[in-house]
Amino acid sequence: MFAKFTSVSLVALLPFAAAAVYDIQVGGDGGKLEFSPEAIAAQPGDQVVFHFHPKNHTVTQSSFADPCGRKEGGFDSGFIPVPANTTDNFPTWTLTVNNTDPTWVYCRQAAKTAASHCGAGMVFAINCGLDGAPNSFTNFKKSALAVGASLAAEAATPSPSAAADPYGGYGGYGSASGSSASAGSYGKWAGYGDASTTTWTAAYGDVTLPPAPIVQVVTDTVTLDSEVWTTTYSSYPGSPAPTPASAAGNVHKVIVGGPGKLLFDPPHIAAQPRDTIVFEFHQKNHTVTQSSFDDPCRKLVKDGVEGFDSGFMAVADDATEFPTWSITVNGTEPIWAYCRQKTPASHCGAGMVFAINSDEGGPRSFDSFKNVATALNGTAAAANAPSGTGASGATTTDGANNGAMSVNIGSAGAMTLALAAVFSLLL
Ligand SMILES: *[C@@H]1O[C@H](CO)[C@@H](O)[C@H](O)[C@H]1NC(C)=O
Ligand SMILES: *[C@@H]1O[C@H](CO)[C@@H](O)[C@H](O)[C@H]1NC(C)=O
Ligand SMILES: *[C@@H]1O[C@H](CO)[C@@H](O)[C@H](O)[C@H]1NC(C)=O
Ligand SMILES: *[C@@H]1O[C@H](CO)[C@@H](O)[C@H](O)[C@H]1NC(C)=O
Ligand SMILES: *[C@@H]1O[C@H](CO)[C@@H](O)[C@H](O)[C@H]1NC(C)=O
Ligand SMILES: *[C@@H]1O[C@H](CO)[C@@H](O)[C@H](O)[C@H]1NC(C)=O
Repeated sequence: MFAKFTSVSLVALLPFAAAAVYDIQVGGDGGKLEFSPEAIAAQPGDQVVFHFHPKNHTVTQSSFADPCGRKEGGFDSGFIPVPANTTDNFPTWTLTVNNTDPTWVYCRQAAKTAASHCGAGMVFAINCGLDGAPNSFTNFKKSALAVGASLAAEAATPSPSAAADPYGGYGGYGSASGSSASAGSYGKWAGYGDASTTTWTAAYGDVTLPPAPIVQVVTDTVTLDSEVWTTTYSSYPGSPAPTPASAAGNVHKVIVGGPGKLLFDPPHIAAQPRDTIVFEFHQKNHTVTQSSFDDPCRKLVKDGVEGFDSGFMAVADDATEFPTWSITVNGTEPIWAYCRQKTPASHCGAGMVFAINSDEGGPRSFDSFKNVATALNGTAAAANAPSGTGASGATTTDGANNGAMSVNIGSAGAMTLALAAVFSLLL
C-alpha cells in the first residue's frame, strides 16, 4: 500500500537539505472516491500538494481510531467544489509536514450519511505503519470502510422497502423532525411523513400537498456491458436502479392528445437512465413541458435553468401523420410535466399532466400530481390564481389548424454525455 510516488520534485529549502513535494490527486476520473497515491512517507519540511478533481472534496485530519471523524485542532482544507467539466488546472491545497508522526486524513463530504466519501474508502495517510503493522494504511482504510458499511445499514433500516430496492430504499418521506418519519407502526404508510405536524403547500392557491420525499444522495457503481463507472445521484423512494437497461436504453412512446382527449397516454411511465421517451402529438395543439410536483402547471426553472419544453405542436383534425419530440432520461428522480396550452381553457387544469418515475406506491403518485394540477388550474380554481395572472379570458380557437409539422426526433447522440453530466453532481 505504500505508494508509487506519482511525482516527487525536490525544492531547495535549506542550504544543506532538500524538501520533497508530493502531489496527491483528490478524487479523479469518473468521480472516484479516493486519494492517489493513498499513502506516503515524508520528512519534516516536505510539502504535500493536494490536487482537487471534480466533485466537492476536503482534505481533513482524522485519527487512526476514528478515521471518518475530525481530529480536534487538526488541519482541514475546507470544501473545494470543482465543476464536472474541469480537466486540468485543478485547484490545490498544500500541507507542510512538520514531523514523522503518522498523520491520518479523510474527505468529510457527506459525513455521517450513507453517501460518506470517507465511508467509501476516501482516506489518506502520511507516515503510517508498514503493511502488517497494527497502524498500517490497510487497517486504517478497512476501518473507514467499516464506518461506511454501518452508515449504509443504518440508512437502510428505517424503510421496509430498503431491502427490496437498494437504489430507492434510502429515501423516505419527511416529517418535521425528519428522522421521526419512520417512527410508529410499520403499516402501509410506514416511512411517510406526518402531515399532521408538517404542511407542504403548493406554489400558489393555498393547496396542501402530500409529504415531500427525503432525498438521499447515493453513490453506486454501475456495470453495463464492459463499462464500469461510479455515479452519485439523488435517490427518491421508489427510484429505479441507476443502471441503464442497455447502452442505448429503451424507447417508450407516449401519445399526446387526440380527438376529444386532453391527456398523455400512458399518463405515467417508469424509465431508466438513457431511456428515450418519444412523444407523438395527435390532434389539437399541445406541448410537453417540464414542471414540478409543487407547481404542476408552470414551466420548471431550477437554479436559473429552464426544464424541457417541446413547444406547441399543432396537429390538424384530419392529420394522418403525427409529429414527434423526444427526451432522454438522465437520472432516476421523478420527472413531472404538463401541457401548457391555455386556450380556450387550461389543459393542465383539465388534468393533462404526465410523470416519469413517480412513486406509485407513495403519496406523490401520478394521481396525486394530477389532483394538484386540477386543484390549482382547473375550472374551479380561478380563485386560486395569484392576482394579476388570472386565467386568460381569451376566446381564440383551440389552434387545430395547420397540420404541417416537421418530424423532430430529439438528440439521441447526447445520451451518453448527458448521463455523465447529470450523474456527476458536485458532491
Ligand atoms: C464548464 O461548464 C460551464 C457551464 O456550462 C462553462 O461556463 C465553463 O466554461 C466550462 N468550463 C470548462 C473548463 O470547460
Ligand atoms: C504543520 O504546521 C503548520 C503550522 O502550524 C500547520 O498549519 C500544518 O497543518 C502542520 N502540518 C501537519 C501535517 O499537521
Ligand atoms: C437530459 O439531458 C439532456 C442534455 O443535457 C437534456 O437536453 C434533456 O432535457 C435532459 N432530459 C431530461 C428529462 O431532463
Ligand atoms: C396555471 O395557473 C397559474 C396561476 O394562475 C398560471 O400562471 C399558469 O400559467 C397556469 N398554467 C396553465 C397551463 O394553465
Ligand atoms: C398553438 O397554441 C399556441 C398557444 O395558444 C398559439 O400561440 C399558436 O398560434 C397555436 N398554433 C396554431 C397553429 O394554432
Ligand atoms: C460542497 O459540499 C458542501 C458540504 O456538503 C456544501 O455545503 C457545499 O454547498 C458544496 N458546494 C457546492 C458548490 O456544491
